[in-house]
Amino acid sequence: MIVLTGATGGIGAALALRLASRGEHLVLTARDHDRLEQLAGQVHAAGGTASVHPCDMRDQEAVTDLVRQVLAEGVPDAVVVLAGHSIRRRLAASFGRPHDLVRLAGTNMLGPATLILGLLEPMCARGSGRVVAVTSAATRIPTPGWAAYAATKSGLDTWLRALRPEAAARGVGMSIVEMPLVATAMAAPTYGASPRGAMTPDQGAAMVLRGLNSRRTLVSPPWVRAGAVLSQAAPTTAARLAGVGGDVAARLLRRDRPARPAGRGRA
Ligand SMILES: NC(=O)c1ccc[n+]([C@@H]2O[C@H](COP(=O)([O-])OP(=O)(O)OC[C@H]3O[C@@H](n4cnc5c(N)ncnc54)[C@H](OP(=O)(O)O)[C@@H]3O)[C@@H](O)[C@H]2O)c1
Repeated sequence: MIVLTGATGGIGAALALRLASRGEHLVLTARDHDRLEQLAGQVHAAGGTASVHPCDMRDQEAVTDLVRQVLAEGVPDAVVVLAGHSIRRRLAASFGRPHDLVRLAGTNMLGPATLILGLLEPMCARGSGRVVAVTSAATRIPTPGWAAYAATKSGLDTWLRALRPEAAARGVGMSIVEMPLVATAMAAPTYGASPRGAMTPDQGAAMVLRGLNSRRTLVSPPWVRAGAVLSQAAPTTAARLAGVGGDVAARLLRRDRPARPAGRGRA
């Protein structure tokens, strides 16, 4: 039995179908009940079984309830945390908006941590299991505009890294997947529907599967690891590069450029 948060998202749904083809039983969660039911139907058609549990990760009581509902089905073999929310906002637009951090912390850190903690206890008692958390390349390469998103993903990452040795001693492995750009609904507002160089949702799902199926503690592209080393070894240079690089990258990656307002186009 595998618990999947963010199951109805681009990467989550692709992962659910890959796991279904192995005949797994999936506990699917996200907020939208209809989309969960629809996905459960696809999981059944693909050879798996599924139960659906709508839950808003920002609601701590609802997450605690979700833990109870999952444990009523059994102690999971694995928990995959994919639920996520991103906001891209530069500094000038962030003034007066501390609630962005609160919203993102609920979805990206506090809700997932509450769920993991609730399920980790019986998994540790049993002496086996796996936790896979999908964070972001943005946690290793801090980029203007993504401050609140990267901070909340980093919070979950740091929390899991510190728990990991003790969980491993109790038989539960943990893997962090530092996801690069994937062409899903989350990426679309910034980079368009099919950004240059983005992975497909299925390729994203394959990355998550590497964390689930192996004993790897980190699944991360080489360029993200290199960025992490540069950020630590040369933080001033890294900050300067990030300052100019973020906007340039957003322009280069976006294939379907937004139309220019009338009268501002070049002849
Ligand atoms: N796409 C990328 O380029 C990219 C890059 C780096 C990391 N990631 C990470 O990869 C993961 C999957 O992203 P994706 O690209 O598949 O995004 P997506 O298509 O936007 O899916 C997001 C999923 O999270 C669920 N969700 C959002 N807010 C929630 C909340 N408050 N409570 C419970 N569930 C919530 C959504 O379902 P409901 O709306 O029904 O709740 C949906 O199932 C995320 O953690 C994301 O941060 C993505």
